[in-house]
Amino acid sequence: MIRIAIDGPGGAGKSTIAKMVAEKMNMEYIDTGAMYRAIGWMFAKNKVNTEDSAEVQDVLERTVIDFDNGKIFLNGEDISGEIRTPEISKAASVCSKLPEVRSKLVALQREIAEGKSVVMDGRDIGTNVLPNAEVKIFLTADPMVRAKRRYDQLLESGKEADLDFIFEDIKERDYQDTHRKLNPLQQAEDAVLLDTSDMTINQVLDEIMKMAEGKN
Ligand code: C5P
Repeated sequence: MIRIAIDGPGGAGKSTIAKMVAEKMNMEYIDTGAMYRAIGWMFAKNKVNTEDSAEVQDVLERTVIDFDNGKIFLNGEDISGEIRTPEISKAASVCSKLPEVRSKLVALQREIAEGKSVVMDGRDIGTNVLPNAEVKIFLTADPMVRAKRRYDQLLESGKEADLDFIFEDIKERDYQDTHRKLNPLQQAEDAVLLDTSDMTINQVLDEIMKMAEGKN
């Protein structure tokens, strides 16, 4: 059994790389950012007052998140196509500060990973969700490089995008994610740092495959 934890800021290429590693090694991929996005989407849709702990708890108790074939479902509804906007990025970042949200999602993440080989990406996987993961990577890149990648991704999927807005959003989320009290984004002591600013996807993939070899 091998668990590969990939943490890092938004737009560093975590999900692209994690998916490729999972496919190559025939393992399950768990996108924890999609879970925070799903909750952010639902809170925004239902105008949940995120400062009201009882309301947050109540809505969470009635929320079921499922993954199937790379898609994410919230109470049975496929919302995969709706959670990748800058607005939902922001909503996810806001709701990821809430202890009720984190404890529900961290428990779900550990449950999904129980007893099997997985690639999991997020912000606190190596430090908190899977502290005993066999391979830990901290994947990062220059903020402008990350903004440009997200911009290209949005255009490719036929959505409108504004590079300046995305750049500001990335910097704001970096700040929020690294400064929150609960499980902030930080490199685990035993994680390997990969700065992908000047690396191709295949170079990153090769590095990770080298780390995984021999631990499987
Ligand atoms: O990775 P992605 O950009 O989809 O994550 C969206 C947001 O969810 C992040 O900005 C972060 O606030 C939150 N998140 C988190 N912990 C994780 C994964 C994501 O707090 N493990």
